[in-house]
Amino acid sequence: MIGEKKVLYSGMQATGTLTLGNYLGALKNWVSLSDEYECFYGVMDLHSLTLRQDPPSFRKNARSLYALYVAAGLDPEKNCIYYQSHVSAHAELGWILDCFTYMGELNRMTQFKDKSAKHADNINAGLYTYPVLMAADILLYQTDLVPVGEDQKQHLEICRDIAGRFNHIFGDVFTIPEAYISGPGARIMSLQEPERKMSKSDENPNATIFLLDDKDTVIRKCKRAVTDSETQIRYDAEKKPGVSNLIDIYSAVTGKARDAVEQEFDGQGYGAFKLAVGEAVAAELKPLQQRYRELMEDKAYLDGRIRENDDKAQYFAGKTLRKVHKKLGLTERIR
Ligand code: TYM
Repeated sequence: MIGEKKVLYSGMQATGTLTLGNYLGALKNWVSLSDEYECFYGVMDLHSLTLRQDPPSFRKNARSLYALYVAAGLDPEKNCIYYQSHVSAHAELGWILDCFTYMGELNRMTQFKDKSAKHADNINAGLYTYPVLMAADILLYQTDLVPVGEDQKQHLEICRDIAGRFNHIFGDVFTIPEAYISGPGARIMSLQEPERKMSKSDENPNATIFLLDDKDTVIRKCKRAVTDSETQIRYDAEKKPGVSNLIDIYSAVTGKARDAVEQEFDGQGYGAFKLAVGEAVAAELKPLQQRYRELMEDKAYLDGRIRENDDKAQYFAGKTLRKVHKKLGLTERIR
C-alpha cells in the first residue's frame, strides 16, 4: 500500500514498436486500472539486452515506448512511468534473488525454451535469468497487482514462488503480487498463423498490427487475416482460430461481449466482418497516434516527467532494497 492505494506494477520491453497484442493484452488494461491504484510502469530496457540491440535505435525505441504509454492515456504526473535502467536497485535485487531461485525452476520456463530455439546463436545467461529480474522489478515496489497478457503467467508464478520463499526465511519482506490477466485481449494471435501469439518479431509483415500503423495498413492487414472455409462468424478458438481471434480483437476494442459480436455480424460474410474489425482498430489507434506525435515533439515535457519519475521510482525501490539488505545481514554503510 502507498497511502490508501494498492500498488500496481507492469512494464514492456523497449524493443521495436508495440503491437496490438501488447496494447489489448496489457496497455489498455493499465489505463483502465490506473485511477484505482498507485501505479508504476517501467520501460524495461534492461530486459531488452537479452537480444543484441543497435544502440541508436534502442535509445529511440525506449523513448518511443515511454511516449506510447503516455499517448495511450497514462498520465505521467499521476503514474510513475520510468526507465528500468535508471533505477539500479532492479539489477541489485535481481542478483540477490538469483541466489534464491533454483535452476530447476528456470529450466521449466517456456519462454526461455521458445526464445532459445529462436535465437540459437545467442542463448545468454540473461535470457535464462530474465524471470528473476522481472521478479525483482515487481517485488521492489511491494506490488499487489500485475496486469499482463497471458504469456507472462508463468513469470508471475515464479515471482510469487521466489517472494514466498524469501518471506518464509526472513519474515514479511515482500508483498506477494497477484497477476491480472483479463479480458478478450489477454492473448491476441498472429493474423497469419492464428495458432501463434501476435509478436513484434514476426517475419511476415501481415501477421502483426503495430500501434503506429496507419488506417489503410490496419485495414489491409485485417482483410488479409487468415480465417477458414466456413462462412459463419462464431467463436471457437480450436476449430476457428482466425475468426475467434478477430472476434477477440473486436471485442477488446469495443468492449462488447463475444456473443454480442457474433449477433452483430450474424448473417454477414467474413469480408464485411474483417473490414469492421479493421475500422474499429484504426479508430481506436487514431487518437493515440496523434497524441504520440505531439509528445515526441515536446522534448521538455517528456524529459521533465522522466526526471521526476526516476526519482520517485528510486525512492520506493531504495526502501525495499535497504530492507532486503538488512534482513540478509549485509553490512550497513557507515555514513
Ligand atoms: P513484453 O514486452 O514481451 O510484452 C508486454 C506486454 O504485452 C503482453 N503481450 C500480449 N498480450 C496479448 N496478446 C499478445 N499477443 C501479446 N504479446 C505481448 C505481454 O503479456 C506483456 O504484458 N517480461 C515482460 C516485461 C516485464 C514486466 C516486468 C512485466 C519486465 N518486467 C514486470 C510486468 C512486470 C514482457 O515480456 O513484456
